[in-house]
Amino acid sequence: MFQILSKETLAKSITKFVIEAPYVARKHKAGNFLIIRVNDHGERIPLTIVDSNPDAGTVTIIVQTIGKTTKLLSLQNEGDYLLDVAGPLGNPTPIHGNGTVVCIGGGVGTAEVYPIARALKKAGNKLATIIGARSKDLIILENELREISDRTFITTDDGTYGKKGFVTDALGEYLQVESGVSSIYAIGPIIMMKAVSDFTRARGIPTYVSLNPIMMDGTGMCGACRVTVGGNTKFACVDGPEFDGHLVDFEELMTRNRSYMELERMSVDRFDAEIREGKISHPVQNPKPKVSEVANA
Ligand SMILES: Cc1cc2nc3c(=O)[nH]c(=O)nc-3n(C[C@H](O)[C@H](O)[C@H](O)COP(=O)(O)OP(=O)(O)OC[C@H]3O[C@@H](n4cnc5c(N)ncnc54)[C@H](O)[C@@H]3O)c2cc1C
Ligand code: FES
Repeated sequence: MFQILSKETLAKSITKFVIEAPYVARKHKAGNFLIIRVNDHGERIPLTIVDSNPDAGTVTIIVQTIGKTTKLLSLQNEGDYLLDVAGPLGNPTPIHGNGTVVCIGGGVGTAEVYPIARALKKAGNKLATIIGARSKDLIILENELREISDRTFITTDDGTYGKKGFVTDALGEYLQVESGVSSIYAIGPIIMMKAVSDFTRARGIPTYVSLNPIMMDGTGMCGACRVTVGGNTKFACVDGPEFDGHLVDFEELMTRNRSYMELERMSVDRFDAEIREGKISHPVQNPKPKVSEVANA
């Protein structure tokens, strides 16, 4: 089991955890993700590794509370243990240097694009970043991204911070002054990744998106994460999670992700009721393990 070493609220419903996971920390590369299980009644959910420290044996994740499992996770505290942390999974992002790149994060996708932006900058690229959110209180990692970027743009849907509008507005603005953009990385809500891909397809700029289909095993065996890219079926966990945004069938991805909406709503309602009725005071009683490390991939 894997101990939570620190917990910090970054924004409304967005929490950062540093977790003890030495084997994962040693092998992590930008673009990798984990599959975690909070307790032995819980489902497996994929989360991007935002950062790692091989010396300290830790990994950092940033989680947005949207349903039952992310809610359960957000209720865990420093000192608690997660039952499983499997990873690093997925293909690392191919990092090339000496170009001009734009990294775009929407909502919690900002956390997912951050390690990629950092690796691209380290490889010698000129880096522009665009952070988009519904409103000011949902902007995360602004200082961290400003520190590594040559230019940073902020957009909010409601105009409470940065420019009022969408990330594609900021991208359009940047492309007017910078004609040599070699590639774009966009991570966020599916609708945002689709909008960015549509915008750049017409301009012929290679665009990579990190897909977020339902995942279960994360090892290519269950087929839950299948997506259509360029007319071919791919498994996001082993073929991705990044794909050429110009070839992704986003409509199918959105439809598949909505398949269990009613069940997910019922599950979170039941969980909320159990908390209200005091049936779950502290949801996880994972005992302190005798051996704190479990060999993972
Ligand atoms: C490769 C990858 C990396 C991700 N990285 C992050 C991250 O760094 N931070 C973050 O906050 N979120 C991340 N996500 C999304 C995160 O996995 C889902 O938000 C989480 O699984 C929702 O679970 P839930 O029980 O709280 O919500 P639910 O109520 O079960 O679901 C709400 C919505 O979340 C999605 N979802 C549900 N279960 C899964 C699942 N097993 N796999 C994928 N999506 C699911 C569906 O679209 C669903 O409609 C990532 C997803 C993928 C595929
Ligand atoms: S999550 Fe099972 S095949 Fe990808």
